[in-house]
Amino acid sequence: MDKKNEKSELLLKVEEKIYPPEDIIKRAWIKDYDSLYQESIKDKEGFWDKVAQELHWFEKWDKVLEWDFPHAKWFVNGKTNITYNALDRHIKAGNGDKTAYIYVDEEGNEERITYRELLDKVNAFANGLKSLGLKKGDRVSIYMPNSIEAIIAMLGCARIGVIHSVVFAGFSEGALHMRINDATASAVITATYTKRRGKKIPLLPTAEKAVEGLDYVKHIIVWDRDKEGVAEKKGERYVDFEKLIEENKGDCEPEIMDSEDPLFILYTSGTTGKPKGVLHVVGGYMVNTYYTAKIYFDFHGDEVYWCTADIGWITGHSYIVYSPLMNGVTSVIMEGAPDHPHPGIWWEYVEKYKVNVFYTAPTAIRMLMRYGDQIPAKYDLSSLRILGSVGEPINPEAWHWYYEHIGRKKCVIVDTWWQTETGSQMISTVPSYPMKPGKAGKPFFTIEVAVVDKNGNELPPNTVGFLVIKNPWPSMLRTCWGNPERYKKYWNDINHYYNAEDLASIDEEGYIMIVGRADDVLNVAGHRIGTMEVESAIVEHPKVAEAAVIGKPDPVKGERIKAFVVLKVGVQPSEELKKEIQNTVREILGPIAIPEEIEFVEKLPKTRSGKIMRRVLRAKELGLEVGDLSTLED
Ligand code: WTA
Repeated sequence: MDKKNEKSELLLKVEEKIYPPEDIIKRAWIKDYDSLYQESIKDKEGFWDKVAQELHWFEKWDKVLEWDFPHAKWFVNGKTNITYNALDRHIKAGNGDKTAYIYVDEEGNEERITYRELLDKVNAFANGLKSLGLKKGDRVSIYMPNSIEAIIAMLGCARIGVIHSVVFAGFSEGALHMRINDATASAVITATYTKRRGKKIPLLPTAEKAVEGLDYVKHIIVWDRDKEGVAEKKGERYVDFEKLIEENKGDCEPEIMDSEDPLFILYTSGTTGKPKGVLHVVGGYMVNTYYTAKIYFDFHGDEVYWCTADIGWITGHSYIVYSPLMNGVTSVIMEGAPDHPHPGIWWEYVEKYKVNVFYTAPTAIRMLMRYGDQIPAKYDLSSLRILGSVGEPINPEAWHWYYEHIGRKKCVIVDTWWQTETGSQMISTVPSYPMKPGKAGKPFFTIEVAVVDKNGNELPPNTVGFLVIKNPWPSMLRTCWGNPERYKKYWNDINHYYNAEDLASIDEEGYIMIVGRADDVLNVAGHRIGTMEVESAIVEHPKVAEAAVIGKPDPVKGERIKAFVVLKVGVQPSEELKKEIQNTVREILGPIAIPEEIEFVEKLPKTRSGKIMRRVLRAKELGLEVGDLSTLED
């Protein structure tokens, strides 16, 4: 096929519309997205007012929204507790014996917990936190495996108004230290290890290194997975996770939380050096995550659902922990890799647990695709109804594979676009709506999005520009922890719209296609990694003078990292040195941030003001147009 044909073939595939099966439409909560969307735009507050009434409040709000640009308050003066809606509400409705989570590891070891059992443990853990002196407004860092215990830790904090800050267990000591320190956490909750690819990866030693010198971290709570008496051996600062629960059994009244009280901080990468602590609050986050999950996953409460993310990312917070519980479904949660001990493990578990709704990332789909169609073909996947995608653009090829080989053309795909900052899913197609492979779809109810130039002018259809959101929504971030200026920047960059810092286009029918990040943030296997974070880690190596990092297209991970490194005078480049630099990054940030490729260079392209022009390096590397070089120094 020649180039031109190849291109039109691709266009054809992107433009194709795929209609949902009748049974999915019949079951769906939403059958007429277009008219409901129009209605919701006319009365945004009325829309959310109605949704919020589906949940429990100790005291109702006086006002749905107070918008004092760029600061929003939602469900003003409403009083609630998200754990009450996640747990107590179902027990009071007589559903306490329903399974909340089925935990499974790579070996097939399984653990189940009902809603009632989960509430008992959350209460006991919350009582335990109180006994250690923790109270509303304190911060606690959680560095734990993808597990029921991690969920107990998060909900235990939320029960009493302690602000949790979960740090992905794949991060290393430098990244963990920065996050604990920025939030000045009074305690760290961790585990002796996490399991991946048949190995035990230690977590406690990393946590211990990360808290060195941080005197305000009063407690290290350890889930001692092999019951080795770790806490006892280590001394006073250490607390045994399971003992804390055992010794503090009994009810724990949920703290009466104001809608705008903080729920959690989650750090995410941006253009500047230090990751920012995105702050979410109780009320709006609760309502928005509950309802998006209900609509996009069409939850009625009788589903088995599996989100393959990790609790350490926003997808885990919103769509493993809070919203599935609020919707009363049974969730599968897995600790381990997608292709270990064999590349059919996920499909084996889908069959075994009769999963109805499955939510994963394109990078995983592309990886599993490579093992061949015969792998999923071995399993009965007929329980599946809705397939979700998140984290990066899903290319039409992966979309079709997911649709045909996993969904067997009987499922719908919801390609959900959203961010740590948005808290909830913002763009997708509701299950009853026609899909376009490669395009995420349309905005959620009440959300107005546009694709604009840097002055905020809307661009014609099919033109790539900045993706902005024009109006506030309940689960929007409220601030960046300790950095209110950074928060304001989201709304002040482009015409007083929320700047998502993504590139996108909108077609004639209003379907939105996400192109990728507009800033210096890499998307490696669906994980957000800041170029500056990696560069700072590289220059920690004593032989390195300077470094610049770019993303290169990767067929599986979306992007992979390449680093250009300037060595100190007199240092000889070598393969050995490349490995050392990679190790430095592994130690500081973690394996996900390691540059796969390193090139030693004499100097880096810079602007007159000394800013590294990564754009130039990237264009040269990929053979693209370099663009305007007038500000280039050299
Ligand atoms: C990207 C993850 C295309 C996007 C929930 C965004 C996507 C960043 C999609 C946020 C999607 C997320 N299609 N790109 N369906 N979903 N992204 O904060 O670049 O880890 O800005 O939140 O992921 O990543 P974050």
